[in-house]
Amino acid sequence: MNALSRPLIDASPALLAEGYAWLPDRLRRHPDRVLRTRLLGRPTLAVRGPEAVRFFYDERNVRRAGAIPEPVLGTLFGHGPVHTLDGEAHRVRKEFFLPLLRPDLIAGLVEHVTWAWDEEVPAWTACERVVLFDAVGPVLTRGVCAWAGIPLDRADARSTARDLVALVDGFATLGPRHWRARRARGRLEDRLARLVEDVRSGRAAAPEGSVLDRLARHRDADGSLLDAGTAAVELLNVIRPTVAVGWFAVFTAHALHRWPEHRDRLRAGDTAYTAAFVHEVRRFYPFAPFLGGRAARDLSWRGERIPAGGMVLLDVYGQNHDEELWGDPYAFRPQRFLDRPVERDELIPQGGGDPRSGHRCPGEGLTIGLLEALAVRLARLEYTVPEQDLGIPLGRVPTRPRSGFVMTGVRTPA
Ligand code: HEM
Repeated sequence: MNALSRPLIDASPALLAEGYAWLPDRLRRHPDRVLRTRLLGRPTLAVRGPEAVRFFYDERNVRRAGAIPEPVLGTLFGHGPVHTLDGEAHRVRKEFFLPLLRPDLIAGLVEHVTWAWDEEVPAWTACERVVLFDAVGPVLTRGVCAWAGIPLDRADARSTARDLVALVDGFATLGPRHWRARRARGRLEDRLARLVEDVRSGRAAAPEGSVLDRLARHRDADGSLLDAGTAAVELLNVIRPTVAVGWFAVFTAHALHRWPEHRDRLRAGDTAYTAAFVHEVRRFYPFAPFLGGRAARDLSWRGERIPAGGMVLLDVYGQNHDEELWGDPYAFRPQRFLDRPVERDELIPQGGGDPRSGHRCPGEGLTIGLLEALAVRLARLEYTVPEQDLGIPLGRVPTRPRSGFVMTGVRTPA
């Protein structure tokens, strides 16, 4: 056993300082892609690779209860969400989210968001400069709220978008971004809990079959309706990550700027290439750094042990950049997704395993559908990219180009 495999020193400060690079840098030195460390005072096992994904998603090995630290619940996910449930309670709560995998619902969301895009973009042409990160939030917010059955005045879209973005932006820091996120969560949960109560009492209408309608009627494993607070948390777990697709939209613009040779095939409506391009954006750019669970029993993986209750981390960012899996992982190359079929547990920006039986993101199809539509629109949009700081700092979680991607002289296609 070397010093790294039995660490006494807690790695939390290093994680906070190094962000996305922390785990991949350390696992790179371990050919078996497994590492023992200590995080938040707990013994921790970090793993990577398709086989490790299957180990991580087996509930006999890893459970989610008690795995997510309060500062992340208080900002990103809310208290009592599907992410923290195991077994039967998880299965029944997940039933509410599974229809999001249906192609007709995906097409419906894409239609609503592209409608909002077409309404908002003409105003960009009148602006001297547009910061894409700020401008795309209201587009996604208007689209997802209309699709989910949540009433939203156009005038409210900007402040609601700011609050939804704040939830994501503030989960991995204890500085001012964190407190902004907590205040935003308070406002959003109050408003959505009132809406759910109004739908249940008949004071407000929810379009039949909409996300709001289904959630107001959803029953947990014990047969009871969700309390209004938990319903608000889960409603936010649909609209907040949809608005987070804005991070990937900015990365898409970044990729089109750095490697403009991809623009023509997207513009021309080459659907297979657009799909490959979107997969490459989700693989290449940093979003979720890793996922965490608790060891359900004393475990061992490739010779490293972790006691029951210890933390188990799945290295998401590292796996999406693993040399063995991807070849030249730091080259942006959509073609890699056309050259060979990619297995379920290889590309994991939104988790691994099966979304129907495990915790994998039920919004992956929605994310892909939205990004395909936005990538084509961004490729067709005409604009200038002035001098700015497009650096993407890996120490900041979540990260994005520092400038937010400034565009000038925006013109819609003729
Ligand atoms: C779970 C990423 C978009 C809803 C997750 C997980 C990740 C993720 C990494 C955790 C998987 C796990 O714990 O094993 C993302 C990213 C997105 C995105 C990067 C795009 C920016 C969406 C969308 C929705 C959504 C559009 C819904 C409309 C959820 C839900 C869960 C989840 C409800 C919890 C699932 C469970 O615990 O069973 N997502 N997601 N996500 N995502 Fe997404």
